[in-house]
Amino acid sequence: MNMLAQAGKQLREVRRRFGDPKHYVKTDETSGQLQFELLTREGCTPSSKVLELGCGCLHLATPLVQYLDSESYVGVDPNEWLRKKAYKNEAVKALMVEKKVQFTCADNFDASELGMKFDFAFSHSVLSHVAHWQLKQFLENVSRVLVPQGKILSSIRLADGNAFGSTGTPDGKDSRHEEWQYPGVSWFTMKTVQEFSLQHGLEATRNPEYTEFYTKTRPGEFHDWVVFRKQ
Ligand SMILES: C[S@@+](CC[C@H](N)C(=O)[O-])C[C@H]1O[C@@H](n2cnc3c(N)ncnc32)[C@H](O)[C@@H]1O
Repeated sequence: MNMLAQAGKQLREVRRRFGDPKHYVKTDETSGQLQFELLTREGCTPSSKVLELGCGCLHLATPLVQYLDSESYVGVDPNEWLRKKAYKNEAVKALMVEKKVQFTCADNFDASELGMKFDFAFSHSVLSHVAHWQLKQFLENVSRVLVPQGKILSSIRLADGNAFGSTGTPDGKDSRHEEWQYPGVSWFTMKTVQEFSLQHGLEATRNPEYTEFYTKTRPGEFHDWVVFRKQ
């Protein structure tokens, strides 16, 4: 077998065992704790209902579900193998079962089939990889399941960069990718974020203090953070 055929065989084997590796993630328990802290700063309490988009290996879900009342967390992620990896930790699995969390594998950010309304939605390192059209899809489908005055807290990469290490795009414009970017990054101007938000009844505000907070512990993770409030 030549080298190319051998590499193809290895890739097929990785996909068979783990799903598509291009969506793999490099976050950990510490980033989950930081995300949890930001969500509580936004007003999340134990009785809040929370939807997480791109819940991955449950790094946020683990501290968050401990904190929330039963039946209060829903996680969305098309890559189910990440959750299965997290479930290899028996304590994580037992917690998710005890607190009656729900998961869906939707790839369009649509959790409406569960018939729940949420006080908060959250995403970390998801909007920083989406195609241009997926930002609209995200805001449309998530806004639909938020209560009035509900909030979405999301990390994103803004095209004008930030004071914590993000360069932004060379021309300060949207990157307008047609597909999910990973490990690459997609970029949006705040103007585009605000325009798309208004189309779905949301008001978007940038929160540089959250980037400052996050980078104190994780200096290389200089995502911008945006809060979307449902009108
Ligand atoms: C960079 S990871 C971040 C994971 C997690 N939020 C964290 O911080 O550990 C991006 C996540 O988005 C998920 N993802 C990719 N496409 C998605 C989609 N259309 N809807 C929801 N999640 C998606 C991936 O499977 C992956 O878990």
